[in-house]
Amino acid sequence: MQRTILDHVEPVAEGTVSLVLRAAEGPLAAWEPGAHVDLALPNWLTRQYSLCGDPADRERYRVAVRYDPLSRGGSEYVHLFLRTGRTLEVSLPRNNFPLLPAPEYLFLAGGIGITPLVPMLAEAVEAGASARLVYVGRSAATMPFAADLQATYGDRVRVYATDDDGRPDFAALAAGLGPRALVYCCGPTSMLDAAEAAFPSSRLHIERFRPVAKEFGPDEPFDVRCVRSGRTVPVAAGESVLDALTHAGYPIPSGCREGVCGSCEIAVVGGEPEHRDDIGAPPGRMYCCVSRASSSTLDVDL
Ligand code: FES
Repeated sequence: MQRTILDHVEPVAEGTVSLVLRAAEGPLAAWEPGAHVDLALPNWLTRQYSLCGDPADRERYRVAVRYDPLSRGGSEYVHLFLRTGRTLEVSLPRNNFPLLPAPEYLFLAGGIGITPLVPMLAEAVEAGASARLVYVGRSAATMPFAADLQATYGDRVRVYATDDDGRPDFAALAAGLGPRALVYCCGPTSMLDAAEAAFPSSRLHIERFRPVAKEFGPDEPFDVRCVRSGRTVPVAAGESVLDALTHAGYPIPSGCREGVCGSCEIAVVGGEPEHRDDIGAPPGRMYCCVSRASSSTLDVDL
């Protein structure tokens, strides 16, 4: 974890504040557009936020937090209780949504989903790519950074306030893309679903805040063998690998506990993991808050 001081809290839209976190001891870890951090809040909750500042600024991280009326305590705490000057622990940046090289980009943002796309658009423009942003929200007042983005990037940015403008036509956007264009989309589930229906999966990159509903067979118990320490940890049906390992004394970091953030990644060296996350675990890794085993034992590098 990295120690930071909350330097600045600023409303950036109706219901959304921007937090600027200043390094408390030495430069902050480098990051690339699309990265997020886990923010350890003083009320013992940990929440994930996309970095939306300047990657070249190693003294500050910037994130934006929308107040969620269904808050499980994270956004509510940030909006009601967090004050400047507070010391906050922040994880190293993690990037499940990296910007791949391309000559053309279409960025699709819905509401607070704009945050990872702000530095992506900047990098794409800096690289000389053809880059456009389509930014959708209920009303202009609720859309963080909309005015700044329009002022900076002009015609590259098209804002749809759905109360007045309706919704963008994704099929028309897809038809207008060049053959090597990539599409990056972050927003509510309905927008991600519409993007998946309109754009070929080979060129679409999405980041989810919420897991996709999936069906699996009944959970079976299995054993996790921790090969470095030589211990075997039983995982009961209905228990997560993360909980079993944590209760056995292995301090696995965790954030979302829903398979969307990547905090709980562990290395698998034997057995058959059953991946249930929404990130796409790289070979030899698994996200142990949701993923299980389809074999009777799973060997992990712990
Ligand atoms: S805690 Fe977020 S993916 Fe496991």
